[in-house]
Amino acid sequence: MRMVELIHKKRQGGRLTQEEIAWFAKGAASGEIPDYQLSALLMAIFFQGMTQEETVDLTLSMARSGDMADLSAIPGVKVDKHSTGGVGDKTTLIAGPIAAACGVKTAKMSGRGLGHTGGTVDKLESIPGVRMDIPRERFFEIVRETGIAVVGQSGSLCPADKKLYALRDVTATVDSLPLIAASIMSKKLASGADAILLDVKVGSGAFMKTREEALKLARLMVDTGNGAGRRTAAVITDMDMPLGRHIGNALEVAEAVEMLKGRGDQRLAELCRQLAAGMIVLAGLAEDQEQALAQTAQAVESGAAFEVLCRMVEAQGGDRDFLDHPDRLPLSPVCREFPMPETGYIARLDAELCGLAALELGAGRETKEAQIDYGAGIVLLKNRGEFAEQGQPVARLYAQTQAQCQRAVKRLEEALSITKERPQLGPLVMERIAF
Ligand code: URA
Repeated sequence: MRMVELIHKKRQGGRLTQEEIAWFAKGAASGEIPDYQLSALLMAIFFQGMTQEETVDLTLSMARSGDMADLSAIPGVKVDKHSTGGVGDKTTLIAGPIAAACGVKTAKMSGRGLGHTGGTVDKLESIPGVRMDIPRERFFEIVRETGIAVVGQSGSLCPADKKLYALRDVTATVDSLPLIAASIMSKKLASGADAILLDVKVGSGAFMKTREEALKLARLMVDTGNGAGRRTAAVITDMDMPLGRHIGNALEVAEAVEMLKGRGDQRLAELCRQLAAGMIVLAGLAEDQEQALAQTAQAVESGAAFEVLCRMVEAQGGDRDFLDHPDRLPLSPVCREFPMPETGYIARLDAELCGLAALELGAGRETKEAQIDYGAGIVLLKNRGEFAEQGQPVARLYAQTQAQCQRAVKRLEEALSITKERPQLGPLVMERIAF
């Protein structure tokens, strides 16, 4: 096979065969195909698109380019949850333990975050002592015993995606729906779960800016997952405003604890219950979403879901004392309040700008090598739709220096719009696919 012929075929709008796709994915992983030819093919795919069949073939080829986890040593249906990422998204730490308390098994392999705040791995690592590099046998044992464990993605997971994603990043070919779907789903398939629940975010703080785009991506990923033999469903959820009240790694762990104790932000609580219920249905442990929702309420009220998180953290080397007393979690030393500039309702609190404010405070990383300040971040005392008097604090910012706080305040000033009329909030869960 010759790469130049594949590039030409796709450039002309042709369909690549399964063999051709498998061949170039293997060549991408091994380094045998030069970057300039891979980049040219990616650009041809960007313009010409891929059929559903091609997308499934690319997903499977990238998944098989490295280790494929075999979770059969864990009894039961293993369910994974994936969020396309947002600001203040700590749902894995809440929905995961709730679902586990209801009998779902989740063996999660998670990436580190790049951007506004850390990923789930960074959030968990903000709890002193927690380890994400757990040997496979121990990882499985924790899932068998507690229902859930989270480890960092190994370097040998989907090397073809690693190569292609890095090239897409520097060739303006990231925002191609088949390439995004194949990239995300290849990692999900290689992680070995039997069923996958996707939380596709839409809005200013998300990858997908419009509902139409998010729907297309969600349908494509659901079809790709099902086409590859894994039961897959999706929800489309709002990411125009930050999710919950805390943005920043240790702060988000503290908020997850509040949620698991049945307290805190009601929109976030509702989303987490919906996600956990979806996982329960996918695992075949409830007949429908309604029945599953009743199970999630019981798991929170009884304290079982909080216990799951504590046991998982202990099993992964952490001290549950930090969860029993979240005020002992890291918190950066400089605190500054952001006051309401005038009396009124918050009409807009732009999620992306809040994320950038958190990044200024040190809660995220701009480059792979950058260090996260686990105790940095934002506590929102008010969110979109709420009323405040002039001078009342809207947010509390935590960082190492006043200069960081000053930069974050500038972002929050841009993020905020005020109105005299009470604004209407749309639904958080906008659509459900394949439930
Ligand atoms: N996340 C991924 O893993 N891949 C993409 O292409 C986009 C988001």
